[in-house]
Amino acid sequence: MISDTSALFSPYQLGKLTLKNRIVMSPMTREMSPGGMPGDDVASYYARRANSIGLIITEGVGIPDPAAVDHPDVPAMYGDALPRWRNVVDAVHAEGGLIFPQLWHQGVLRNLDRAAAPDIEGLRPSGLWGTPGVTTYDATYLEAMSRPTAPMSESQIADVIAAFATSARDAIDTGFDGIAIHGAHGYLIDTFFWAETNRRTDRYGGDIRARARFGAEVVAAIRAEIGPDATIMFRFSNHKQQDFKACIAATPDELGIVLGALTDAGVDLFDASARRFNMPGFAGSDLPLAGWARKLTGKPCMAVGGIGLNNNLVQSFIGTGETLAENNLPEVSRRIAEGEFDMAGVGRALLNDPDWARRAANGDDFLTFDRDCMARLT
Ligand SMILES: Cc1cc2nc3c(=O)[nH]c(=O)nc-3n(C[C@H](O)[C@H](O)[C@H](O)COP(=O)(O)O)c2cc1C
Repeated sequence: MISDTSALFSPYQLGKLTLKNRIVMSPMTREMSPGGMPGDDVASYYARRANSIGLIITEGVGIPDPAAVDHPDVPAMYGDALPRWRNVVDAVHAEGGLIFPQLWHQGVLRNLDRAAAPDIEGLRPSGLWGTPGVTTYDATYLEAMSRPTAPMSESQIADVIAAFATSARDAIDTGFDGIAIHGAHGYLIDTFFWAETNRRTDRYGGDIRARARFGAEVVAAIRAEIGPDATIMFRFSNHKQQDFKACIAATPDELGIVLGALTDAGVDLFDASARRFNMPGFAGSDLPLAGWARKLTGKPCMAVGGIGLNNNLVQSFIGTGETLAENNLPEVSRRIAEGEFDMAGVGRALLNDPDWARRAANGDDFLTFDRDCMARLT
């Protein structure tokens, strides 16, 4: 007997968009767009996944700020890259799919050693990289990055907000179905949320409400630029690459303040990035981060982390133990049916197998996980 996964494969109405099922391709950096230009291979890669899942979130894409992203092969969402993106969007739409770009500013995590413009410093709210905790970065890198830099000026803040808004406008004009914002994992927006990296004494720093201001202003600027109808999705996380044990909110009340500010600014859908989709968000309750986001905001929410697999992303990257296919979809589906969250973000399993969702729908066995899929564009 095939276990019940009917809620996972039920359609979802997200504003004007109809998702054919609840499976969303989680954003995954590929660095395979030479000079920032996504080619036909990028279009085929997304198109291959488009007709079996509800929504694709692209890899993180650079907004028009010289300090936004490091590697020159991260695709840009501005200028000459826009017609290339039109090919990608058309290919996805031709398969009946939906696609949002994930707008990205790496902030403190922009690695100058691999950056196209290494003379431009990374942008940091208070000049701080963050205190390293549980992290996979090596000691040499940490030493180089821990050198304090100048805090962001008010005009740099205004320029970055404007760059997010322009990029969002260009993406919608290019045919994307909505906008996703990377506000997680220790990148720029997240470092404003995190007390460790935000020691500002102006209106962007101080208590949790003030630390949410930068993210909220990014959302509000995008909303003003793209109008009331286009969907805005926002990814947040407690964990950071600087420290997997870090958190932006120590309690549900604090998380409610951050997510409330983002909701008021115009977020339609939260992407609660966690290492396992069912990991409790706070001690004392089984509710995962996505469940808390939904409960606190009433907005649709996506859970992510280890769906279809036995372990988390870091374990796959550093090769701790074996990453194995695991059919945890009945649990994912049950949590959706119970109203805990609405969508299931899938990362590595969809990299490993473009037909993963079709296999899941048919109750077929999953393919063996091949770690090299993380370095391929297939
Ligand atoms: C190769 C790779 C690149 C990733 N790049 C991004 C990224 O650009 N933006 C982002 O928000 N998350 C990124 N992630 C995290 C995924 O979106 C996802 O949250 C994570 O892999 C957990 O889901 P999974 O267990 O299904 O793989 C990346 C993950 C992988 C495997």
